[in-house]
Amino acid sequence: MTLIQNPEGADTTSGTPAALRIHRPEARPPMPPSAVAGGCPFQLKGSVPGSSNGVEGRTLQHYGPAPLVELPGGVQARVIVAYDLAQRLTAGRDVSRNADHWPGFRDGSLAVDGVLRQWAGPRNALNAEGEEHARLRAPIQAGLTPRRVREMTPVIEAIVEEALEDLEALADASGVVDLVPAFALRIPQQVITRLMGVPSALMGQFGQAATGLFDTSAGPADMQRSMDTVLELLGEMVAARRDHLGDDLVSDLIRAAEQTDSPLSDEDLLAQLMLVVIAATETTVHAIGTLIVHLLTHPAQRALVLGGEVSLDDALEESLRLQPPAASVPLRFAVRDFEDAESGQVFRKGEPILIHAAAAGTDPDVHTAPGVYNVRRPTRRKHLAFGHGPHVCPGAPLARREVVIAVSRWLEAFPDARLAVDAARLPQPHSFIANGFTEIPIRLA
Ligand code: HEM
Repeated sequence: MTLIQNPEGADTTSGTPAALRIHRPEARPPMPPSAVAGGCPFQLKGSVPGSSNGVEGRTLQHYGPAPLVELPGGVQARVIVAYDLAQRLTAGRDVSRNADHWPGFRDGSLAVDGVLRQWAGPRNALNAEGEEHARLRAPIQAGLTPRRVREMTPVIEAIVEEALEDLEALADASGVVDLVPAFALRIPQQVITRLMGVPSALMGQFGQAATGLFDTSAGPADMQRSMDTVLELLGEMVAARRDHLGDDLVSDLIRAAEQTDSPLSDEDLLAQLMLVVIAATETTVHAIGTLIVHLLTHPAQRALVLGGEVSLDDALEESLRLQPPAASVPLRFAVRDFEDAESGQVFRKGEPILIHAAAAGTDPDVHTAPGVYNVRRPTRRKHLAFGHGPHVCPGAPLARREVVIAVSRWLEAFPDARLAVDAARLPQPHSFIANGFTEIPIRLA
């Protein structure tokens, strides 16, 4: 039995540090909160009916602002579920994304495999701090300027129109279509392909390999193959583009990278591009899908949007608050022993920290009736769906533009569409990171 406790509490069963077990849901359904309180194992997250990152986040809130949990592979981490504390930690200097602060991680003496190594390992902007972070992030930021977002707008509109035109043809004999591959995934995938200036000859291959990166049913070998293919194609693009810079993200990165005092190596450049492909795709898929599901399951609020009383932008912010596309983005580490004066929480040097955006967005100290989707909620923008502080998502303006264009045109094109299954039966990713729906069967009319 795994002990569950608040870090301030006493361990009474095993003598080991407190642990709230989080892992993939295949084996057992999550225990209800009452069982958690009794000290039973608790499985965080899943596609198990009745469970979701949101439910888990709200359960964790019962254990204080920063309970200790067990992540996959047995790693123990403090999960930050309080909005204010999450903001202070992500904006401050006591916590770093650089895994050099994680004792034993780099030298391999700490056994960390799978998803946490995949996220914490690469040396990219997400995992860097200070000057190195600035050096790695600047070229990406330079490629995602407001001008670039404006220029991408007609491109996004064209991609959305094309996807909408194909939608009916993709429906099965009973008129049902799965909106995830047919629409929600197609938009960000094509946007990123165009943004990066992938040559048309490589588009099919690139799209296929990029899809493989998000295939949660793929085994490690298939996943590695997709990763290698995407890296190889990005490598080819960088090599070809160095001599013929254009008006695209890859060229922007090369230009910006060469203008600094310490230009990025090809390896660093590829790591940044890979980060952008990953960061830009699966998140936006879930932002589109989840907003559509929220609107379909809340007809009165959908009517407010369709009637122009509430903007789709506001409906999106409320959707991002309640169900952020990335429930959490591993991982951060305490760089020293410190106490957060306002919450009284004490963190130990080297301790892994996970900001739980799904929990922070439903913090009852910030939002009334936090679990309710309410497009008129005054606090709807108080969420961490795009992070906070120096690592705040540089793609947020582009992502918001994509989602609003896609969903507004979808609402116009299919005003009578409805879910083909009960919303409670929509499958969710097997992940404490990706947060959304993996299938959204829709009856178009
Ligand atoms: C709805 C869609 C999106 C969501 C919900 C999202 C969310 C996030 C979150 C939570 C982070 C981590 C912030 C932190 O550590 O505090 C992040 C980082 C990042 N995102 Fe996004 N993102 C989205 C779309 C995009 C797009 C479209 C791009 C690029 C075209 C992008 C590029 C990045 C990059 C490069 C980082 C790393 C930034 C850094 O560490 O400095 N994201 N995103």
